[in-house]
Amino acid sequence: MSYEDLQSAAATIADRTGRRHHDAAVVLGSGLSGYAASLDDAIEIPYAEIPHFPEPRVVGHGGSLFSAAVGDGAALLFAGRVHTYEGWPLDDVVFGVRTAALAGAKAILLTNAAGGLGEGLAPGDLVAIRDHLNYTARNPLVGSNDDRLGPRFPDMSEVYSKNLRALIRRAFETASVPYREGVYAWFLGPSYETPAEIEMVRRAGGDLVGMSTVPEAIALNHMGVGVAGISLVTNYAAGITDTPLSHDEVTETATEARARFTAVLDALLPLLVEA
Ligand code: HPA
Repeated sequence: MSYEDLQSAAATIADRTGRRHHDAAVVLGSGLSGYAASLDDAIEIPYAEIPHFPEPRVVGHGGSLFSAAVGDGAALLFAGRVHTYEGWPLDDVVFGVRTAALAGAKAILLTNAAGGLGEGLAPGDLVAIRDHLNYTARNPLVGSNDDRLGPRFPDMSEVYSKNLRALIRRAFETASVPYREGVYAWFLGPSYETPAEIEMVRRAGGDLVGMSTVPEAIALNHMGVGVAGISLVTNYAAGITDTPLSHDEVTETATEARARFTAVLDALLPLLVEA
């Protein structure tokens, strides 16, 4: 990945959409990609038609970028993301969100499906991400630093912007969804965590576990872009109940939560575009 690769991807998005600028972006997590197609008049560009874009390989993760008019501005929506557990280098994992930042996005919402372990969390809950724990020992900024993207040693004391969390709270209120915040713990996957690992996360202050989001959040924080995160709790984390974890449970819960997720995003998108 080079800066020029990002620029050419951003230029393709501008050409294909006729929009020189997008104000905000949303990455839609597992089982949540359908939201993009529900937007009126959204312009769809398959990832395969954007130079240097990696294409998702997991069934049910989609693989298109959507551009939608929102209020007086426009937003990009990623229906499908690539994961580190598929074997992608982190440069590829964060390529899409870096492109969105070059396309003008100043606020980017990262969404995901996650296991829940925090006090009072249950499948179906939507949770704003307050901070993260990185259990992969991987970082998308490893390697030579391109100063055009950001500094060598970026501060990480407020990755998930307080201002954007306030907007998430407003959107939850509008959608009549109880507002909660939690700490998201990134595991590499693709195997789910063991009960002992979940106990470790609990003792460390984690509330949510998943296999995405953190690399994108690090890369965007590096670029000085405002990051917001929302997890959909699709299952109890390993060891909390006797039920084994399954990808089917994850996608089923995501489907059941669609109406609430849609209501939250409908309320949040205009706030992100204006942010
Ligand atoms: N662990 C990791 N990733 C996940 C989970 C989980 O329990 N649920 C959905 N994605």
